[in-house]
Parts: sequence; C-alpha cells; structure tokens
Amino acid sequence: MNLEGKVVVITGASAGLGAHFSQLLVEKGSKVYGLARRKAKLDELRSELGPLFTGVECDVADESAVGNAFKGILESEGRIDVLVNNAGLGIFGPAEDVTLDEWDLQVNVNLKGVFLCTRAVLPAMKAQNEESGFGGHIINISSVAGLLGNPNISTYNVTKFGLKGYSEALFKEVREDGIKVSCFFPGSIQTDFFKSAGLPMSANPMTSEQLGSTLIHVLETPDNYLITEIVMRPLRPKG
Ligand SMILES: NC(=O)c1ccc[n+]([C@@H]2O[C@H](COP(=O)([O-])OP(=O)(O)OC[C@H]3O[C@@H](n4cnc5c(N)ncnc54)[C@H](OP(=O)(O)O)[C@@H]3O)[C@@H](O)[C@H]2O)c1
Repeated sequence: MNLEGKVVVITGASAGLGAHFSQLLVEKGSKVYGLARRKAKLDELRSELGPLFTGVECDVADESAVGNAFKGILESEGRIDVLVNNAGLGIFGPAEDVTLDEWDLQVNVNLKGVFLCTRAVLPAMKAQNEESGFGGHIINISSVAGLLGNPNISTYNVTKFGLKGYSEALFKEVREDGIKVSCFFPGSIQTDFFKSAGLPMSANPMTSEQLGSTLIHVLETPDNYLITEIVMRPLRPKG
C-alpha cells in the first residue's frame, strides 16, 4: 500500500510504540487518528506532528467510546485504510495474587479493545474492497507472550495468546474481502510498558524505531503479498 493520503487509526497512540508509529505514518503522508485515554499526551503529539495527526480521547475497552470514535472518523474521512491495534498493558505477578480487577483490565484492553476496534472498521474496509478491489490492513500487536507461557505473566499470556487466535481466524475470514491481517510478536521494547507491568525491562531491549521500520515495511507490501505473523526479538537481551 502506498501510505500517502491513507487514513490510519492507531490505538494506544499517546506513548511508546503507538506514538512512534504515529510519527512514522505522518512522515509517510498518512492522516493518522491516534486513540488513547490521556488527552494531554495526545495534544502534545499533535503539537509535535502537526495537522496530519488527530488525537481522539478513547478508552478502547468502552464499547460506546469506541463506537463514537470510529463513527466520528468515518464521518470525517469516509474510509479507514489501516487499523493498528496497539493499545495494551501487562500487570505481572504470581497467579494467586492476580486480582479480578487486574484480570479484567488486561482482558478488556488487550482483547475486548481489539475486538471492538476491529468490528468497527470491518464494514468500511469491506465497502472499500467493493469499490477498489482492496479493503485495508489490520495490524495486531501481540507479544512473544502470545507464543510462550512464562511464570508471573499468566493473565498477560492469556490475552496475547488470545490475540494470536483472533488474528489467525480473522486473516482467514477476511482475506477474500481484500483485507490484510498481520500479527506482530515482539520481545522486550524500550517503552513505559514495564513501569506499569511490575517487572524490570531486559537490559538490552529493542527500540520503537526498530519496530516502526518493520511496521512500515509490512504496510507497504504489494496488495497481493500478505505477511501474517512476525516474531521480533533483541539478539542479546542481556546486553
Ligand atoms: N514494551 C514491550 O516490551 C512490549 C513487548 C511486546 C508487546 N508489547 C505490546 O505493545 C503494545 C504497546 O505497548 P508499549 O510498549 O508502547 O507500552 P506503553 O508505552 O505503556 O503504551 C501503552 C499505550 O496503550 C494505551 N492504552 C492503555 N490502556 C488503554 C485503553 N484502555 N484505551 C486506550 N489506550 C490505552 C496507553 O495510552 P493511555 O494510557 O493514554 O490510554 C499507551 O498509549 C501493547 O499492546 C503491549 O502489550 C510491548
């Protein structure tokens, strides 16, 4: 896909990977709508990136907030070419210490949020395919924790394994509608993720820039070339 002029929605755009993805896509000339809860952070990003970036205050786990956000974007633009389901969090600790609130929060953001945002774009992408023969591209940010269970991250594992299954099912379901679905499985990346997760970051993580260059590569592939899954890791996580 040529990204210039395309309409892109990125969830979790206020920080980390999502903020960097927004910057790269604005540099490509895309019109980026960044969803997150912290409006002040989105406003800061708008000042940095300019009018091609629009922040939309939205909790992706809230059905009506997601419905309103996507309704607004579709009313303004008439289309959505790319959805990056990036918003997510982990709260780590022994299985017996996980509270119901911690379970619900991770499942609601990492899985329900992806479901709600994806459901909101599919009709538009299918209509785009009817018009032009290509519907769009959905990127889901899972984790190596979507491939490997590990001690103290059981709830996060559930959500990221779930996202693998959702992505695979969706890819098979909508490929004939001209819609690409790709799922990323990164290891440690240097962001604020570990602050809220309650685990130290690995000593030598990947960077948002490295992930961003892969995102752009995957999005710019020719229409009939689909990369369904990518695992990315630091070569020497311990430094
Ligand atoms: N960093 C890593 O090592 C790593 C590795 C593998 C996978 N990942 C995945 O990469 C994705 C991005 O994480 P990151 O590393 O960039 O972490 P981050 O720096 O903590 O950023 C997380 C983003 O998600 C947003 N978010 C959280 N809850 C939300 C909600 N309910 N509604 C809307 N947005 C919400 C946050 O915005 P607000 O707080 O403003 O809402 C923030 O913009 C996540 O899915 C994470 O699981 C990260």
